[in-house]
Amino acid sequence: MAYNLLKGKRGIIFGALDEKSMAWQVALKCQEEGAIFTLSNAPIALRMGKINELAAQCNNAKVIGADATSTADLENVFNESMEVLGGKIDFVLHSIGMSPNVRKKIPYYDTSYENFQKTLDISALSFHKVMQSAMKLDALNEWASVVGLSYIAAQRTFPGYNDMADAKALLESIARSFGFQYGFKKKVRVNTISQSPTLTTAGSGVEGFDAFYHYAEKLSPLGNATAEECANYVVSLFSDLTRKVTMQNLFHDGGFSFTGVSTELVEQLIQSK
Ligand SMILES: NC(=O)c1ccc[n+]([C@@H]2O[C@H](COP(=O)([O-])OP(=O)(O)OC[C@H]3O[C@@H](n4cnc5c(N)ncnc54)[C@H](O)[C@@H]3O)[C@@H](O)[C@H]2O)c1
Repeated sequence: MAYNLLKGKRGIIFGALDEKSMAWQVALKCQEEGAIFTLSNAPIALRMGKINELAAQCNNAKVIGADATSTADLENVFNESMEVLGGKIDFVLHSIGMSPNVRKKIPYYDTSYENFQKTLDISALSFHKVMQSAMKLDALNEWASVVGLSYIAAQRTFPGYNDMADAKALLESIARSFGFQYGFKKKVRVNTISQSPTLTTAGSGVEGFDAFYHYAEKLSPLGNATAEECANYVVSLFSDLTRKVTMQNLFHDGGFSFTGVSTELVEQLIQSK
C-alpha cells in the first residue's frame, strides 16, 4: 500500500545491480511513494547488471555511471541529477560495498594494504565523498535525508565478513561525523541502517553466508528482514515523518542485535550434546 510519503521529493539512489539488490527494492518503493530520482552505479555494473530494466520501471529514471571512489564522477551525478530532476535533492541512498578480500577469499589477517584500502575506499570513504560532493555543490535541500546501509559486524565479529567489518564501523562513524556537520550547516540528516543478512550479490559473496543467514533467522524474534522490508524502512527515513532522526545507526534486523540466544537454538544445542 502506498502513502504518497515522498510526493514531490527528488532523490539519487546508488547501488542497484539487479532485482535482489537492496537499492533496487528502494527504487521501486520510492517510485510507489511518488518520488522522482536518478539511479547511479559503477560503469562496470551498468554493463553487467540490469539497471536499465529498473530505470524503465521507474518512469525512465536517468541512469548516471559513477565510480563512487571518484569525486569528479560523484559531482557529475549531483549536477546531472539536479538538472534532470529540476532542482535540489531531498534524499540519497548509499548502497555500495565491495571487498577484494571477500571476493578473492583472502583471510582478514592476510590482507594486503592495497586490498584493505580498496575495501575502505569503496565501502566507507565513498559515503564521505558523496556528502562532501553534495555539500560543495550545495546540492541538498534543507531536511534532506542521506542513508547508508550497514551490518552488525561493525559491532560484533562474524567470521567471513573480513575487512568489511572495519568498513562498516567507519561507515557508521562517518554517518555521525558528517551528520553533525551537515545538520548544523543545513539541517540535513544522515543515518545508517544495519540490515539483516540478505540474499543479494554482495551478501552471498561473504564466506559462510548461508550459515549467517540461518543463524540470524533462528535468533531474531521477528525473523530476518528482507530487502523489500529494508526498502520500506529507508522510505520512512526519506520521508518527513522522521525529520529529527540523525547521526544514528538503526538496526533493522528483526531483533537480532539485542537477542542473546533463542529457545530453539538452546534446545538444538542440548540435543546435539
Ligand atoms: N546483503 C546483505 O546481507 C547486507 C546486509 C547488510 C548491509 N548490506 C549492505 O547493503 C549495501 C548494498 O549491498 P547489496 O546487498 O544490495 O548487494 P549488491 O551487490 O546488489 O549491491 C552492492 C553495490 O555496490 C556497487 N559498487 C561496488 N563497487 C562500486 C564502486 N566502486 N562505485 C559504485 N558502486 C559500486 C555494486 O555495483 C552493487 O550495485 C552494501 O553496502 C552492503 O554491504 C548488505
